[in-house]
Amino acid sequence: MSDTVNNNKKRALSCVQPSGVLTLGNYLGALKNFKAMQDDFECLFAVADLHAITVRQQPANLRAQIYATYALFLAIGLDPDKSTLFIQSHVKEHAALSWLLSCNTQFGEMARMTQFKDKSAKHADNINVGLFSYPVLMAADILLYTPDFVPVGADQKQHLEIARDIAIRFNNNYGDVFKVPEPYIPTKCARVMSLQNPAQKMSKSDENQNAFVSLLDDTDTIIRKFKRAVTDSDNRIICSDDKPGITNLIGIYGAVCGKTNKEVEEEFEGKGYGDFKLAVGETVANELAPIKANYDKYISDKAELERLFRDGAEKARYLANKTYRKAMKKVGFVI
Ligand code: TYM
Repeated sequence: MSDTVNNNKKRALSCVQPSGVLTLGNYLGALKNFKAMQDDFECLFAVADLHAITVRQQPANLRAQIYATYALFLAIGLDPDKSTLFIQSHVKEHAALSWLLSCNTQFGEMARMTQFKDKSAKHADNINVGLFSYPVLMAADILLYTPDFVPVGADQKQHLEIARDIAIRFNNNYGDVFKVPEPYIPTKCARVMSLQNPAQKMSKSDENQNAFVSLLDDTDTIIRKFKRAVTDSDNRIICSDDKPGITNLIGIYGAVCGKTNKEVEEEFEGKGYGDFKLAVGETVANELAPIKANYDKYISDKAELERLFRDGAEKARYLANKTYRKAMKKVGFVI
């Protein structure tokens, strides 16, 4: 097997946690970009199942979510003939490299991570060590595959910076092993906000179902959620810091239609919030309807999903093992 599918192409890698049904935020901030990158980059995309247990999961739910997330990868158009699509825990080198990297990461660096602070406040009864050291596992996910780019939403930027710091430090201490990757963050919708509280990011773990649009919501549900989206009382459709709700909806509409904020503002000049929210809801529903139809098809064929993710893991393992052995050797292990 060759080291790269096509040596002219830059490599991209990203992962998504199977901690709930994926949202419009995941889609516009990351997955849509994954799909767009497939032809121009050599891509690897993984379901980050090991990450999901940093918060407590029901085993049966976790299992179902892993299948569902993989099926959604396929449903949005990720193509196993073009990209390597796999499940993180199937490649043991992720957890193994994470140990090597942990011993080269400082406690203080982890303690600064804002996601750790947020999540430990939210799950005060389960502030486990995995939640704390999560960015090291994420660094391992990335560095094993020596990618040039990591497509993510804006909320993962800090984690990516720490992955870069860890790579640079490891290379300085032991010699060149890791490539230092660049973030690849969309210029539009890098942070899709909650429909109920536009000061917070849209999240699949939000307890308020109206706060997020799931990629599997039906048309009526999507339209209803946008109709109920929290906005201000002024009726102008313009982007502004003091209009976070409307600004979020303009961003979503523009990202789906491929329009700039300005173009969206012009399109809806003189119209009211009711018309605008309906248009956003319908546009998003049209974008997601084929994804849901594809998903229903993929999720009903478990044997095919299993064949695909086993095949993906085999391809990923080949690359991961090479980097892992190199790192072990540099540190002084006998391999
Ligand atoms: P996760 O599973 O929370 O989210 C998956 C991807 O979706 C993006 N995203 C968003 N983008 C815009 N607006 C939002 N509201 C929004 N919510 C989520 C995230 O930025 C992400 O790109 N730690 C990662 C998963 C991970 C990973 C990795 C990513 C594990 N290992 C290695 C890249 C490389 C996470 O929890 O993403």
